[in-house]
Amino acid sequence: MAFPPSFLDEIRSHVSLASVIGRSVRLTKKGREHLGLCPFHNEKSPSFTVNEDKGFYHCFGCGAHGDVITFEMQTHHLSFPEAVERLAAEAGLDVPVQAPEERVRAKQAASLYDVMDKACAFFERELHGTVGRAGLEYLRRRGLSDETIARFRLGFSPDARTALKTALRQAGLPESLAIEAGLLIVPEGGGESYDRFRGRVMFPITDRRGRIIAFGGRILSDGQPKYLNSPDTPLFHKGSVLYGLAQAREPAAQAGTVIVCEGYMDVIALCRAGFGHAVAPLGTAITEQQIELLWRMADEPIICLDGDAAGQRAAGKAALRALPLLKPGYSLRFAAVPAPEDPDSLIAAEGPAAMQRVLDQARPLSEVLWQQELAGHAIDTPERRAALEHDLMEKVSLIADKAVQDQYRSYFRSLLWETFRPPRPAKPAFRPFGGPGRGDLLRSRGHRLVDRGADGRLPGAGRPPTLPPAWLSQERLLLLMVILHPVLLEEVAERLGNLRFKDSDLDKLRQEALKHLDGWGSLDSEDVQCHLRSCGFSQILDCLLEARAHDQSAHIKPDAPVEAARALWEDAFKLYTEKDLTAELQQAEQQAALNMSDETFGYLNALWSTKIRGGDV
Ligand code: CTP
Ligand code: MN
Repeated sequence: MAFPPSFLDEIRSHVSLASVIGRSVRLTKKGREHLGLCPFHNEKSPSFTVNEDKGFYHCFGCGAHGDVITFEMQTHHLSFPEAVERLAAEAGLDVPVQAPEERVRAKQAASLYDVMDKACAFFERELHGTVGRAGLEYLRRRGLSDETIARFRLGFSPDARTALKTALRQAGLPESLAIEAGLLIVPEGGGESYDRFRGRVMFPITDRRGRIIAFGGRILSDGQPKYLNSPDTPLFHKGSVLYGLAQAREPAAQAGTVIVCEGYMDVIALCRAGFGHAVAPLGTAITEQQIELLWRMADEPIICLDGDAAGQRAAGKAALRALPLLKPGYSLRFAAVPAPEDPDSLIAAEGPAAMQRVLDQARPLSEVLWQQELAGHAIDTPERRAALEHDLMEKVSLIADKAVQDQYRSYFRSLLWETFRPPRPAKPAFRPFGGPGRGDLLRSRGHRLVDRGADGRLPGAGRPPTLPPAWLSQERLLLLMVILHPVLLEEVAERLGNLRFKDSDLDKLRQEALKHLDGWGSLDSEDVQCHLRSCGFSQILDCLLEARAHDQSAHIKPDAPVEAARALWEDAFKLYTEKDLTAELQQAEQQAALNMSDETFGYLNALWSTKIRGGDV
């Protein structure tokens, strides 16, 4: 049973060789390769290498060598079709139905490559002949040297109905094969087949291995369509191909990255300008398969699309498409060529340095996603802010890899917090977790956050109340209850006396309350408050009473029965003194997710080690 070669390539690009082998062999990453003990012979030191990039494994000990399909065959003792079917199922690919005529077609694949190569040679010859003069002049006008033309095997299709058809027949190739290869068109109503490409500059499109599988043909004038591409054939499925891939592999390995631009001419211009590691999709949105192909060349390919609206829409689409596929260490970066240029015209106008500057400004996928969502949302009301958060988290949920998903969630939470938090007062009244804000850190690393007004506020942003940490609420409550119900003070004086509050202002108030216990002849709350005010505690007392509005003690009314106040006091005392580490940890972790300052980190560490020591949870 034969499979179309393009289908086998699809399997090879869909299934990660290292992860298939990693199931039975413990692999360690070494540079661009993985190393492990050879499963095909007995050995003590590893000589089995896996090259994900090239898609094969090789054992320097026993010479075992192959790709993902042969590995499946050998380790599971499967036949070729069995291994293919198994891998296809795993990758979620449908095995092409092998109808009799398709089987014939598959067998013809080898000769299809042959037709394509012969056609390419014909187009190349024509470009340099009299018929192709206009084409050659066009390419030279666009700045291409003979060397570049030869390197990319550019050619010209004569503006005649059967120029290629005749040439192929003379070379002894059957017409049916040329039709199969998409080079000839059979009129719908029947009749003689004729050349698909006429009067166009020809760009051959190859597979990973450099075999020609399709053509793109550019019109010389302003006519339509500007580019005409081969139809899908047994060799060519445009969603799984990248223009320039075969040439770009080696330079990409050297550069450590790969550039994805929009067009044929961009790939060629980039290559001429020293960016040999450039590829392009074929006029369609970037597909999952293309992303997987890119990741075999580099961990973080740079998507460098045109700065116009269409280019940026395409970049946004690519970002979304990549989300479900993200895995630790693998992502995309995004750069934009300033409109109305594309890489080709930018390099022509301003040189390679300008292109390099564009690439240097490539931003990570995470940041692009954030910018994209932020730009699409008004954030001037709580509901709208919630909508932004909702939409961001929805994107995060598309990420299949748990570790990457967690990192994204926490990254977006930091940014949301930074964006929505109230402006910092000139002199911080109280910051339980001080240190530089996460936003400052992000900014210092060159991240662009939302611009704030002079007062640090977001345009139109309100001042959402922030919840105090649990222990602060408890300290407030412990004081508030005895101030509102001084009769309690007598009962709890001893316990209150043994505490030391973390908030220094509240602690002073606590001491004052205890110190004057005997002096408070009156057990009336008004009198007590009066007394405290006379001792200079007006401000903190106002704060305390005010805090009721935002606090868990919000429901405490001054006229609540003393039993209720006592119960609240006892609860708060219990929570406060038992140092509910779990709760405290939880809260600290939440805080840390928003703002991991050094101080927060130290605090978390202290809590963790207390908990590990068996603390008093
Ligand atoms: N494309 C296509 N069919 C079209 C137009 C475009 O397949 N009718 C694809 C081609 O791969 C092309 C790419 O989309 O290279 C980008 O299109 P565009 O920006 O319009 O062309 P350029 O590459 O800039 O081509 P040129 O510089 O020759 O105008
Ligand atoms: Mn262009």
